[in-house]
Amino acid sequence: MTATTNKKLLAWVDEVRAMCKPDHVVWCDGSPEEYDRMTNTLVKGGTFIRLNDEIRPNSFYCRSDPADVARVEETTFICSEKEEDAGPTNNWADPKEMKDKLRGLYDGCMQGRTMYVIPYSMGPIGSPIAKVGIELTDSAYVVVNMHIMARVGTKVLEVLGDSDDYVRGIHSVGAPLKDPKQPDVPWPCNAENKYITHYPETREIWSYGSGYGGNALLGKKCHALRIASVQARDEGWLAEHMLILKITSPEGEVKHVGAAFPSACGKTNLAMMEPTIPGWKIETIGDDIAWMKFGPDGRLHAINPETGFFGVAPGTSMASNPNAMRTLYANSIFTNCAITPDGDVWWEEMDGDEPESLFDWLRRGWRPGCGRKASHPNARFTTPARQCPVIAEEWEHPGGVPIDAFLFGGRRATTIPLVTEAFSWNHGTFLGSVMSSEMTAAAAGTVGKLRRDPMAMLPFCGYHMGDYLAHWINIGKKAKEGKLPKIYYVNWFRKNEDGKWLWPGFGENSRVLKWIFERCNDTVDAVETPFGYAPQKNELDVSGLSLSDEDLDVLLQVDTKTLSEEIDDMRQHFAKFGEKLPAELKAELDTLEEKLKG
Ligand code: OXD
Ligand code: MN
Repeated sequence: MTATTNKKLLAWVDEVRAMCKPDHVVWCDGSPEEYDRMTNTLVKGGTFIRLNDEIRPNSFYCRSDPADVARVEETTFICSEKEEDAGPTNNWADPKEMKDKLRGLYDGCMQGRTMYVIPYSMGPIGSPIAKVGIELTDSAYVVVNMHIMARVGTKVLEVLGDSDDYVRGIHSVGAPLKDPKQPDVPWPCNAENKYITHYPETREIWSYGSGYGGNALLGKKCHALRIASVQARDEGWLAEHMLILKITSPEGEVKHVGAAFPSACGKTNLAMMEPTIPGWKIETIGDDIAWMKFGPDGRLHAINPETGFFGVAPGTSMASNPNAMRTLYANSIFTNCAITPDGDVWWEEMDGDEPESLFDWLRRGWRPGCGRKASHPNARFTTPARQCPVIAEEWEHPGGVPIDAFLFGGRRATTIPLVTEAFSWNHGTFLGSVMSSEMTAAAAGTVGKLRRDPMAMLPFCGYHMGDYLAHWINIGKKAKEGKLPKIYYVNWFRKNEDGKWLWPGFGENSRVLKWIFERCNDTVDAVETPFGYAPQKNELDVSGLSLSDEDLDVLLQVDTKTLSEEIDDMRQHFAKFGEKLPAELKAELDTLEEKLKG
């Protein structure tokens, strides 16, 4: 039985059924029984291995096809009606041409499979900030991951009613089983033809060929960032690639922070950190995406649209992120890490000794010292946010939490100080717009090269990045005096001349959060630098740290010489946006250049 009478929705599902020709159509109800039924089916079909229930209850291990392991930015398209609306940082294709091409690929692509209809809500159901989407998919893996990552099922159809206000997503792994005798493979995909396409005007997502992460779980990057960023521009709110955390001072005062960092800069670690300074508490609201609207009090209120964490497994440990380790103790899905002989998962840098033997993500035997990594560097855990021991009690508050400060940051060995506070909203928008990170060894030949990634949204902004920056400036104009979050630029990754980290990072970052907290209350002074306000040396709490005076000086200092050398690079970065670059940002860059000369 279908749990909706929404005629347009029923007609669309029928239309996609006629195109993709699945053997069955199943409307997902989102119940625990459905989850169990589907995980059992995935185990029977060889996609999942049930982990040892005594070690990791109700959890599953999965290996993807080696040709389907990450988001595919090169075949991700923003198919806006006008090319200029996609801007210089996105791939664009004409929507009609792209849809024609995809209709060819979708024709019969679900033969021998079931098409699941997944109604989902990004954000607490019924929250004024939340949005509904419907994903049609032929992947049972997607269904069970969506159960963890979003609110799914009949209750979403109930709030949707007869409304037409939902994002329509079609997803197929692109691997029909044309002959009824054809056996399925554990991870069906179409390695040669992957397309992740977005139609911002009609709020549609068509994804084909990949079953992995953000390519396939359409609520996450495709909906909650690419399509939502366009809706946010149109409706006057913000959809950002930001974690949300809550800080409580020893006196019990609470503040909330949104923070944007590019990949591999420790966003999940910061969101769940264990503070090292006595009496301070950090709790998690979200680790990846924030949707923010102005509340009745004139402040920006943020929700985490997701209900789970889809985190990178390698490198996660009791040392780097104890609260993530405690979250994934059960009820989790692990993709592309290694499996131990006793039926648990393992990845590089996990705690304890390396297991004596295991099976790697490519199903091969593995021993320490064999010279290969056991897990893929983009191996992931999918785990429920509610299991996080430091999830804040208000994390599902429909009205969101008021944001006091935004943090921008990247991985910079030189030049950029530990923390600076923007002079104003426009200056903070400028700092976010030139945000940069050094690329890691993952991209051959480019180690150390700077990549400018405005607000960490480069792969996720669904429209012209110049218009996106103008939207930030406009939010500043729209807000009432004194109501906007303060903006900070942080860098945990500064190194000394011998290449050693100057700042210990992880839980010690709470010291920086404490300074930010106190700046928001105007209870600590700062010194003015060309880049922003920096902490007075004696007002950053470094008690108990073995940090020399000289190192602290370097950490807090803006290297004006090397920063001056970057002005040209910033101008080239801005030149990409042509006339769409807001005049306010050009003016901020001119001012910075002047200050550096002075
Ligand atoms: C993610 C990403 O998976 O940013 O969150 O790539
Ligand atoms: Mn992300």
